[in-house]
Amino acid sequence: MTDASTVSHAFWAPFTPMRQFQQQPMMFESAEGMYYRTPDGRKILDAMAGLWCVNAGHGQPSIVQAIQEAAARLDFVSSFKMSHPAAQAMSDALIALAPEGMTNVFFTNSGSEAVDTALKIARAYHQARGDSRRTKFIGRAKGYHGMGFGGLSVSGIGRQKRDFGPLLGEVSHLPLPYDASMRFSAGQPEQGASYAEALAQLLDIQDPGTVAAVIVEPVTGSGGVYPPPVGYLQRLRELCTQHGVLLIFDEVITGFGRVGGNFAAQVFGVTPDLMTVAKGLTNGAVPMGGVIVSSDVYQAFMAGPPQAVELMHGYTYSAHPLACAAGLATLRLHQELGINAMVQEISPFWQSQALALKGLPHVNDVRSIGLLCAVDVAPRAGAAGMRGADVARYCFEHGVLVRASGDMIVISPPLIVSQAQVEQIFECLRQALLVDGI
Ligand SMILES: Cc1ncc(COP(=O)(O)O)c(C=O)c1O
Repeated sequence: MTDASTVSHAFWAPFTPMRQFQQQPMMFESAEGMYYRTPDGRKILDAMAGLWCVNAGHGQPSIVQAIQEAAARLDFVSSFKMSHPAAQAMSDALIALAPEGMTNVFFTNSGSEAVDTALKIARAYHQARGDSRRTKFIGRAKGYHGMGFGGLSVSGIGRQKRDFGPLLGEVSHLPLPYDASMRFSAGQPEQGASYAEALAQLLDIQDPGTVAAVIVEPVTGSGGVYPPPVGYLQRLRELCTQHGVLLIFDEVITGFGRVGGNFAAQVFGVTPDLMTVAKGLTNGAVPMGGVIVSSDVYQAFMAGPPQAVELMHGYTYSAHPLACAAGLATLRLHQELGINAMVQEISPFWQSQALALKGLPHVNDVRSIGLLCAVDVAPRAGAAGMRGADVARYCFEHGVLVRASGDMIVISPPLIVSQAQVEQIFECLRQALLVDGI
């Protein structure tokens, strides 16, 4: 830990116990490739990819150079009624990666903004088609969709909502497609597609003609890395199509190689109507998000008078020149490195290393897919979250950065991780779990 005297008492950090942080600040000074460096010179293997975002590894020279050049050339131009070449190129590059039939992208600055934008587009789409009854949303248990009021409303993690209500009304939730029979399954559970039938029930309860959209992460991310059972997403798609409900995939984590394809939509063979992206889009180097929509959704907005603004929505920094430059360089680098193929190649090894934790003390479940993994450890009696925190602290002290979310350890390294580094990550976890008294 860093010297506490270096911490500003003005700094209020997200999702952080501030008083504890001020006593024991965790600081990083620089980063390169797979590693962070602390102010006291320790090299820490980043098994979190920053926060699921630095997919191509830290400090990639081509991304750094693109940002520098962009800043010197055009610091800012609004995207309201004007644009710049990098925004055009970025739109084309992104759509070239998207599932067939998804043709347009609206840029935001974060995943949260992307989700709120997607929810607004969904309602406005139905409105544009003269179907103003469709205003309701359906989310899913353990879903995380950012911290805007819209995203929080559709999210499925109750403790994050506790202090902020009232949220959007008219939101209901699907159950998590998971049960104890799926513990320690490698990748997608074979059974469990029938969990999608809960959508048929919910639609029935709500009156399907009043529902605007269903939003799910194809693989539940922050809520605990729950891969979808085989056939589950297909069934959600069928039901949405059948009832005229839009399907939104929140691909903020699963996009850009994390599960071995451009998007989880392609990996699982299910095309949504809208898709939210952020994080890996710019390799975490400049904030950016976006909503990718199908041609059908976009065209629904284009039926009015041509001089009218079709979507009354946007942000000062939508398609910011630095973000577009970082995004273009990132997508180019992904092609050069063959990131998707790299993930496909290493993920069986990743999965076997992850599953080898089964049987170690305190390990209740391990879930993994692509280069994602969550390890549930048993909570200590009367001290929920403490064991998870201690495991993460042990790993940090031994040179590996993992994320503890309560008693769940989440691992999502940059996608350039080597086999030796995968071994190091899981060996460190193994050692942590074997520590007496942890
Ligand atoms: C699936 C998903 N959606 C949305 C968000 C929110 O993104 P941001 O933190 O960039 O606002 C996140 C962040 O972790 C996420 O995982």
